Amino acid sequence: MRNLTLAALLLLGHLACALRGDASRPGIAARAAGAGTSGGGGSFDGTRRLHQDAVGAAAAGTQAATEQALPLEQPLPLDQQQQQQQAQEDPTTQQQAAAGAQAATEQALPLGQPLPLDQQQQQEAAAQPPPSETQGPRCPALSRELFMERAGAGGVAMIAVMNTAQWDFGLNWLHHVRAAGIDYYVIAAADVVTSQRLTASGEPCFEWLDEEAPRLGLAWGQEGWRRMTWSKVFVLAAVVDYGLDLVVSDVDVVWFRDPRLLISQHPDVDLIFGLDHGSSASDPGDSGLEAAFHPNHADFNTGVYTLRHGPNVSAWAHAWAASFKDCDSHDQVCCYRLIRTGEGVYQLPPPNQRISVAWHGRIRMATMPVSIFQSGHTRFVQQLHVRKQVDPMVVHATWTYNGLGGKRARLRDMGLWVDAPAYYSEPSFLTVDLDRVEVPMSFNRWNENEDMIVLHLETLRRQLQQAYVGMALATAAARPFILPKFQCFCEKTWYGTVRCRVFDAQDFPLPITCPTDYLFQPEAFLDGSWEERGMVLDVREPPFLENSRTPEEVKSSVLVIMPSAALKCRSCVKEQLGPDGRMVVLVPPSLRSEELLPLLDPYRSYRVWRLTFGGVGSAQRAYSGFSRGEEARAFDRRMAHITTSWCCRREEELLRYHKQGEIEVMLSMTPHFNYSSSFDSSPGGDGGGGTSTGGGTDGSNGGGGEAQVVKQRRMAADAGASLGG
Ligand SMILES: *[C@@H]1O[C@H](CO)[C@@H](O)[C@H](O)[C@H]1NC(C)=O
Ligand SMILES: *[C@@H]1O[C@H](CO)[C@@H](O)[C@H](O)[C@H]1NC(C)=O
Repeated sequence: MRNLTLAALLLLGHLACALRGDASRPGIAARAAGAGTSGGGGSFDGTRRLHQDAVGAAAAGTQAATEQALPLEQPLPLDQQQQQQQAQEDPTTQQQAAAGAQAATEQALPLGQPLPLDQQQQQEAAAQPPPSETQGPRCPALSRELFMERAGAGGVAMIAVMNTAQWDFGLNWLHHVRAAGIDYYVIAAADVVTSQRLTASGEPCFEWLDEEAPRLGLAWGQEGWRRMTWSKVFVLAAVVDYGLDLVVSDVDVVWFRDPRLLISQHPDVDLIFGLDHGSSASDPGDSGLEAAFHPNHADFNTGVYTLRHGPNVSAWAHAWAASFKDCDSHDQVCCYRLIRTGEGVYQLPPPNQRISVAWHGRIRMATMPVSIFQSGHTRFVQQLHVRKQVDPMVVHATWTYNGLGGKRARLRDMGLWVDAPAYYSEPSFLTVDLDRVEVPMSFNRWNENEDMIVLHLETLRRQLQQAYVGMALATAAARPFILPKFQCFCEKTWYGTVRCRVFDAQDFPLPITCPTDYLFQPEAFLDGSWEERGMVLDVREPPFLENSRTPEEVKSSVLVIMPSAALKCRSCVKEQLGPDGRMVVLVPPSLRSEELLPLLDPYRSYRVWRLTFGGVGSAQRAYSGFSRGEEARAFDRRMAHITTSWCCRREEELLRYHKQGEIEVMLSMTPHFNYSSSFDSSPGGDGGGGTSTGGGTDGSNGGGGEAQVVKQRRMAADAGASLGG
């Protein structure tokens, strides 16, 4: 087991750079969705090729059983050299390397590039009228005094760089930093607007503008953009000689606890980083430094780290910043190159083997386990901190897909994104109960990747089709849609899965609740015009009703809507109490919006409508969609581009399973049916859509147009029987 972990760490060490190259890179997501085909775009392929051998090797060792160790001496499929070589040969990879893979993951978007407005930003814009952002007090210039004052007696300062493009991430970061009692942070404002905003809210800040960058081009991959991604390294070099210990933090990070503890607990370590790995070799209950770390083989993450001051560390920080000129990649890769080159990179002998010496023997470094310095994967997908019985200190929103929208979505999935109060209370909401499949008892012992993928994709199709019905009713009722907790029997990664898991995280149980960014392109719920992108869909994250910020009055006000084949009328409803004491209203199946909504109107005071499919044989029969073809088509236009793709099958398995061309599979909201197809034959005749399909022949009971409401209250005890009958 230990061997496997080490081997996996070694392998991963050579993968993670490229892996992050695709991580939440907006261009990739757009291509995958835009193309709508399996197989993906060129850059996806580039990364996949990089990973293929390594994953295959890992798969060979782990397919039968996780305890089968990989031989450590197995030649590494991709060493740094090869990777660089490949990068030079492969324009795609070269672009990734040059442009800065981490920057994509690590949310470093160029300033000035407008982001698509998402919910949060829209609400923010609505909540606060744009201040006059061309004048007003700004942050002072960088000074030692500012830092000394903030650091106080502890002698530690936390630094972060903020900019306008990621302003909402900055606010979220600040919220959690304050909640964790961290009062020694200082913020570098990377543009004038950020400088003014920080000053207006009284935050300790200094201006750190890069006037050169815009001239060099701020578009993704351009030199000015690369400079922006390096700004935190330049800031580090500017403050590292102040004689303070430092905590450096990206803003797509949430702190739970004060990291000063780490610095005081490890007086012999200069630098403590987090890792991008899927697993930790540390035993459960072990809260110390990561047990298996070597600077040459592990990919540490430069988004979060602690630094103990001293002349050697200062020299290292200056060397890192200076390497910007010669190293054409992003800061993290250049940090690896710097640290790994030269003599004197080794682990200290026991009992200090968790500490390594690096950079010409001049610095001592270590990492924290991924269960304590967490990623979006180890926290949300694996819940590794629970299995490792440790108390997390920080989570970095990495291992996410679909750009900044995906990062936001993952933080919301984790309950760690703070929206404006109205987001949680207004107006009223609608969700669906997914009809889930039973998990095969032995599922977590399955070894055959393809069997698991088939189950995953088939169950996802069913779930997405059910969500589609719920989304249609939500938009018709003008209620934001609370995404249900989709069940994922397989991970999504940038390269082939092993037993449907990332290859160095084979131990966690499946299925998991799908991260929202596994299925959706979060920014695609609301973007674009009606003509192009269709009806907007206002969504809330799956754990919305568990969020402590969602008011009790919303959580407790739930109406279950149950289309029921047992109801032999077309415009009546029947009330009963569900087994959990909730009000259940039975409605006729297969109604369209203009038939169903009037029946539900008396129930509009319920803050949450929960659509359930228990009374009908199929989601299609539950609700027949829009009465007007124009609306159905606008809804389907939206549905056509909200999903993302699942990835990846392993290339070497394609032939065996007759899945050529299906490495990557585009997900669809409508694998079985859509609402606009019934209007296709008469594009003009929208108004007459009242004839529902599949509604049965019992439409006469309702009486002449007026909704005749039959209310039959029943006690909870009766409910079970009446549902069936
Ligand atoms: C800096 O590194 C050198 C080389 O390892 C070492 O001899 C020296 O003691 C270090 N200085 C400090 C202050 O740690
Ligand atoms: C709806 O389904 C029909 C029939 O399967 C298909 O031809 C059509 O393209 C679909 N329309 C949309 C907008 O998805």
